[in-house]
Amino acid sequence: MNGEVSQQLSAYWMPFTANRQFKSAPRLLARAEGMYYKDVNGRDILDGTSGLWCVNAGHCRKEIVEAISRQAAEMDYAPSFQMSHPGAFQFAHELIRHVPDGLTRVFFANSGSEAVDSALKIALAYHRARGEGQRTRFIGEEGAYHGVGFGGISVGGMGGNRRQFGAWVPADHLPTTLNYEHNAFSRGEPGWGAHLAQNLESVLALHHPSTVAAVIVEPVNGSAGVIVHPKGYLKKLREICDRHGILLIFDEVITGFGRLGTPFAGHFFGVKPDLMTCAKAITNAAVPMGAVFANGAIYDTITQGPEHLIEFSHGYTFSGHPLACAAGRASLGIFERENLFTRAAEIGKYFEDAAHSLRDVAIVRDIRNLGLMAGIELHSAPEGVGRRGYEALVGAFERGVLIRVTGDTIALSPPLIVEKSHIDQIFDVLRQVLRHLK
Ligand SMILES: Cc1ncc(COP(=O)(O)O)c(C=O)c1O
Repeated sequence: MNGEVSQQLSAYWMPFTANRQFKSAPRLLARAEGMYYKDVNGRDILDGTSGLWCVNAGHCRKEIVEAISRQAAEMDYAPSFQMSHPGAFQFAHELIRHVPDGLTRVFFANSGSEAVDSALKIALAYHRARGEGQRTRFIGEEGAYHGVGFGGISVGGMGGNRRQFGAWVPADHLPTTLNYEHNAFSRGEPGWGAHLAQNLESVLALHHPSTVAAVIVEPVNGSAGVIVHPKGYLKKLREICDRHGILLIFDEVITGFGRLGTPFAGHFFGVKPDLMTCAKAITNAAVPMGAVFANGAIYDTITQGPEHLIEFSHGYTFSGHPLACAAGRASLGIFERENLFTRAAEIGKYFEDAAHSLRDVAIVRDIRNLGLMAGIELHSAPEGVGRRGYEALVGAFERGVLIRVTGDTIALSPPLIVEKSHIDQIFDVLRQVLRHLK
């Protein structure tokens, strides 16, 4: 790092980062192409995490770069309230060809957090429009991450993300389905635990189902360390929601856009949610964007009343931003041409075998995987959670591989263009790193 940059580290208050520790030994990336970053010293860093679960088609794709620059030169911005631009309609129209059946309407936001809060509001507005305004509660799941808005942290199930703020939207939670006794080292969907969906009936009985607006889940819990739900679990949640007139929201901010080997997790699990949130890979991460996909009935129910009045009082200055739509459309073109929506199914078995090859490392407690996602959970060091995870992150980075850690769980989610040689490199480096951890 050059001297000028090191002088400038103090002003930027970094998100979800141990700021003081980072600034004492910064990891700064400067360039990216395909599967690789280069750090500020010109070192190649293999991207084992698609940035932050988002650069699914690989970095700096020419078509996307060109589409963004063309759009920026042609029209930088168009107001999003009572005005729009053709690209937003075209992108929405193209997107709905790829999502689970029935999700025919797209509401644009700028991030996963905004998409989640928008989806929660759509659920409330839908029930109010049907005369069931008493449905104000949400049911989330322990271990789920739904972003950092007040809605998202309330329905989310990661205690650390509420500790400083509380939880302000009425929500209760299902227990996690993570179970070491029955499911440790499962490959793909664990076979044990579909019956755990019955916990939803218990939580509903406590609050009365008629007070619940929606159940929200991540089809695979990504941020909590790749927790794959037991086979059949999500189908059962769907059945219970249907029985009680409760909406089911899939938060596909991570699982969407090919991560599991199908376009969306709804396809993989054979479950149709009523609402689905996306972000991250929707533009291949080149421009921030989030989106809520809604079924037609929800849109029709809310879109009523005098035609000159706004039907849903919610939205963002940058909803459907021209640059995001241009990036998203170009990215979708790459996904279609290169079959990236299903690429993880082709290479997933190789990735799975590579991940599970670490099972013999003494400090490995569990390995979980689905598609091109894997979680390698380490036994925590005696002094507590987090030290081994952090050292694994730093050790892998020093050896030229970018991984992600949550506590002591390593999460891997390489770009969908990953080749076997990259997978070998990721796991060779991890083996070296883990062997040296105390
Ligand atoms: C499932 C899920 N939902 C929501 C979010 C929040 O997205 P963002 O960071 O874009 O607000 C994330 C981010 O990782 C996520 O994984």
